Amino acid sequence: MVRRQLGRTGFAVAPIALGTTKLGRNTDVKYSASFALPSAQEVAALFESALKLGVNLIDTAPAYGDSEERLGALVVNHRAEIMLCTKAGERYVNGRSVFDFSAAAIVASVEASLRRLRTDHIDILLLHSDGRDVEILTQTDALGALARLKQSGKARAVGISAKTNAGIIEAARSCDIVMAPFSQKETALADALAAVHDNGLGVVAIKGLFSGHLRARPAIEFVLNQPFIDALAIGTLNPAHLEAAVEIAENLRGRG
Ligand SMILES: NC(=O)c1ccc[n+]([C@@H]2O[C@H](COP(=O)([O-])OP(=O)(O)OC[C@H]3O[C@@H](n4cnc5c(N)ncnc54)[C@H](OP(=O)(O)O)[C@@H]3O)[C@@H](O)[C@H]2O)c1
Repeated sequence: MVRRQLGRTGFAVAPIALGTTKLGRNTDVKYSASFALPSAQEVAALFESALKLGVNLIDTAPAYGDSEERLGALVVNHRAEIMLCTKAGERYVNGRSVFDFSAAAIVASVEASLRRLRTDHIDILLLHSDGRDVEILTQTDALGALARLKQSGKARAVGISAKTNAGIIEAARSCDIVMAPFSQKETALADALAAVHDNGLGVVAIKGLFSGHLRARPAIEFVLNQPFIDALAIGTLNPAHLEAAVEIAENLRGRG
């Protein structure tokens, strides 16, 4: 896959990234069908196909159950080939999400993520917003924690997984990257994403298949043809689905 620049970060990413919610979490989620968590062999096969296909950005989070731990066991031998995106502010406790955006919680979360991912740095560290994007960015000390983590080298780029237009616009003041839902079914954030992309932020789309409710080819083409989207994280457990997404990205009819 031809790689794309992720905003001003200097990172070159394949347009298809691997989203890993399903590696560790199957409760309190919005997928089109219920599913069992994958076996260690299935996770290893998925990871191997990501490497083989040139997928070089993997998105995870403490909120995705043991996704980070499962990835850590595999990434440890391939760290230089993979960019890791993880998040802080949301945890998965007894099957539900719990949020804390205090600086102390963010720092503790990142230290735990580094241990689970078996690495000394996170390439992209995002605040895992619960929807109160602007409040998190302006009324908590989370951004200060991100800045210090970046300065120490524990995070190379920082940002927010946002859910609102106002949050995306606010993020442009202090962030390198925004992640946001965008699909044929969910276009409400388009103008804000375009504005911050013009401002130099990297934009990673999620839920391009509307969590499995859309047909893959038109859905992926729609997202990746937007000039303000650098990469789309596909949340799959199936190596054939990842391969199909890569084929679609490689043969885009609009933007190349
Ligand atoms: N920051 C946040 O708040 C947040 C929220 C949600 C998601 N995310 C990130 O974004 C990623 C993607 O989001 P998502 O997983 O919710 O949604 P998604 O990528 O829109 O949809 C994933 C669903 O589509 C199915 N699928 C994938 N490729 C397919 C294909 N070629 N044909 C048929 N079905 C296909 C998958 O099933 P199979 O497993 O069978 O392929 C899965 O159930 C997540 O994994 C996570 O990394 C972040």
